[in-house]
Amino acid sequence: MAVFLRLAVVAAATAAAASDPYAAGYPSPWASGGPGWDEAYAKAKEFVSGLTLLEKVNLTSGTGWQADECVGNTGSVPRLGFRGFCMQDGPLGIRFTDQNSAFPAGINAGATFSRRLMRLRGEAMGEEFYGKGIDVQLGPASGPLGRVPQGGRNWEGFGADPYLAGVGMAETIQGIQSRGVIACAKHWLLNEQETYREKVSVTVDDRTMHELYMWPFADAVRAGVGSVMCSYNKIESIYACENNWTTNYLLKNELNFQGFVMSDWGAQHTKLGSALSGLDMAMPGDFMSASKTYPPYNAMWGGNLTESVLRGEVPQWRLDDMVVRIMAAYFKVHTGKYTARPDTNFYSWSQNAVDFLHKSSKTHRQVVNKFVNVQGNHAALIREIGAKSTVLLKNTYSALPLRRPTSIAVFGRDAHDDPAGPNACPDRACINGTVAMGWGSGTANFPYLIAPVTALRARALADATLFANISDNYNLSAAASLAASASAALVFVTANSGEAYLSVDANAGDRNNLTLWDNGSALVAAVASTNPNTIVILHTAGPVALAALKANPNVTAILWAGLPGQESGNAILDVLYGAVNPQAKSPFTWAETPEAYGATPMFKAADPLNPAQTFDEGVFIDYRHFQRSNTRPTYEFGFGLSYTAFGYANLRVTPVVDGVAVPAAVVNAGRTAAAPTFGTVDRRLEANLAPEGFEKVWPYVYPWLSGRNVSVAPAPGAAVTAMTNGSAQGADVSNEGEVAGTEVPQLYVQLGGTENPWGVLRGFEDVHLEPGETKTVVFELTRRDISNWNTTSQNWEIWGKEKFVFVGSSSEKIRLNATLPAPKGLRWTAS
Ligand code: NOJ
Repeated sequence: MAVFLRLAVVAAATAAAASDPYAAGYPSPWASGGPGWDEAYAKAKEFVSGLTLLEKVNLTSGTGWQADECVGNTGSVPRLGFRGFCMQDGPLGIRFTDQNSAFPAGINAGATFSRRLMRLRGEAMGEEFYGKGIDVQLGPASGPLGRVPQGGRNWEGFGADPYLAGVGMAETIQGIQSRGVIACAKHWLLNEQETYREKVSVTVDDRTMHELYMWPFADAVRAGVGSVMCSYNKIESIYACENNWTTNYLLKNELNFQGFVMSDWGAQHTKLGSALSGLDMAMPGDFMSASKTYPPYNAMWGGNLTESVLRGEVPQWRLDDMVVRIMAAYFKVHTGKYTARPDTNFYSWSQNAVDFLHKSSKTHRQVVNKFVNVQGNHAALIREIGAKSTVLLKNTYSALPLRRPTSIAVFGRDAHDDPAGPNACPDRACINGTVAMGWGSGTANFPYLIAPVTALRARALADATLFANISDNYNLSAAASLAASASAALVFVTANSGEAYLSVDANAGDRNNLTLWDNGSALVAAVASTNPNTIVILHTAGPVALAALKANPNVTAILWAGLPGQESGNAILDVLYGAVNPQAKSPFTWAETPEAYGATPMFKAADPLNPAQTFDEGVFIDYRHFQRSNTRPTYEFGFGLSYTAFGYANLRVTPVVDGVAVPAAVVNAGRTAAAPTFGTVDRRLEANLAPEGFEKVWPYVYPWLSGRNVSVAPAPGAAVTAMTNGSAQGADVSNEGEVAGTEVPQLYVQLGGTENPWGVLRGFEDVHLEPGETKTVVFELTRRDISNWNTTSQNWEIWGKEKFVFVGSSSEKIRLNATLPAPKGLRWTAS
């Protein structure tokens, strides 16, 4: 393996003049183009220059909950034939429609540790969203990151490590956007639990903010993501969607984000505060509840924003910047064969061909669903990712792969179809059949769902293997007696989680504990009491307590299949029978209790009306905590077995660039040029009223003034951003076993000092090896990879503590190590 260091630091400075009305906070940095954005920015400027005030406002403002086809829609520019934007969930496929694919969840994509598969998944999803006429896919997610193992939505993201999540974000975004669809990195920021998510105020120290929670978003921005969704929670008492520190300063200034920020659904709380704090698009635009209105517009933006601009409360440049950002994201993805965009051809609110277009007002009955099949040949990829994201945690006596066993018996409701169909429960909030995704807005309808029992039965028939199955998790004596006669007993168990607006088995999004659901532990124990070859397959949203299964000699194998999507049964079949040699690695740590993780969710706030939480554990979440506290988990982050064995040798570390970083704060000190405006604003009252005779429908959100009087005022100035650069390593990995396999060598860096974890993930590669084959793996390290965030200089800096690199097959199975050479001009001091 060679590890190459390429230094890349993102940092920035803000120049706010004392006379600026926003000097007390951070002015909203205006889009300025830059690498990957220049062409789109130029087109956006031209487009926006030709728009009227009302047209601009229309593109920033949602039309209201259930007001149009998608979960979120903006107004349009009818004069130019430009339809409004369609925003649709979610991170694993298209929500609320038909003839779409249900992909493996983000957590499974993370478990592949495969850049290639992450990218292919993004591309395939992008093709499907494009085909349905969707402009913005509301994903991928890296918030929550996985601070606590029970986090209800952890499975939507890629795992509890910022580096892994960052790679997942970047590959997925590039995949989606290469297919003409804008990706949306969410949820910005510190949205780590479902309980109290709309109220909780989170405090975190600046270093942890940068080294942990912002990290994957920084990668998303560098990958060119077109949009970012601000979250429900508060950050230091200020809602994320009107938090000018996190949006203006951190995201738009420091990370130099050039796309647009949209609110989570209903996460906008103020009209002016959000606009001046950098929000660019309000979603869904109204209040999602008829009881909460905002007369006379039923929205914080729409006509209200028009008024604010005319009155000068929101400067024209800020509105222009919102629209330039939205249109730049649009033009950035609409290139090559994706220049034309299909009309939206589906409808989120019913499966009927004909229905009310505006469900909120029950008007405009027309054809709303065109039933366009967008699945392409994605089933094959879904099956491949399903198999290659299955982590083999235990395999004793070579229990696996199965070799034409005489008889198999399959146990567990989780192996079977939901009798009411795979989409019977709203947003998948139940466990009535095999679990292949969590629940909430991050779900899709299954076009079909191959239950494990379906695939296993077909294989048993072909092999002349005797086959029997039981779906009842509570009839333990029947399970024990069937198990006694089988040469292999396969038990499928689950523990699920999801989004807070739905509860399953009294778990309101976040999981209450780490136990198996649905009598799972008792079922496994009953089967294992009579069968010495019990194989347990876990369809869980995250870690569960496994020590008893690990220690039980009759449990010969344990597999975590996660949330594999529509091809679930076929994917697990491939692994169980060895068509795919397991290669996945666990994207989180497995321990016995929630407390063992060192960070705990807040289930009961001292002040339930103003819940507040400080992330005291700092950067020490998941494996970083277990290493620091010197406690052994049941299975560690990065762990996963194969049917073959791998050798590691020859670690070589080579600096490739001795870059000297100049803090961007120094480069960019001073004032910027004045904020640009595009086009003119017609300030006459009559120019901004609804055209005579236009029939408004309530509660649809429009950009027109209600008729009140307005005044005009001048606009302020703002901020700048910049990037500086950075240095390089390799080792040899060989397949020492009898069968071909893929290993994921992982590189961990010890940054030095007690303030740093023992090691942090900074590289991985999936390497396919034939028996006896050896390959050299090269890891490239960036400057950021070996830096810490300096809270005083507000920059990434390489601290002078001696640093080491470790290469291994998990965060604990370290096979090779070396000292990292200090970049030119630095000398390590032992820590
Ligand atoms: C709220 C969720 O937090 C977000 O992830 C989702 O995209 C929106 N609802 C829209 O459904």
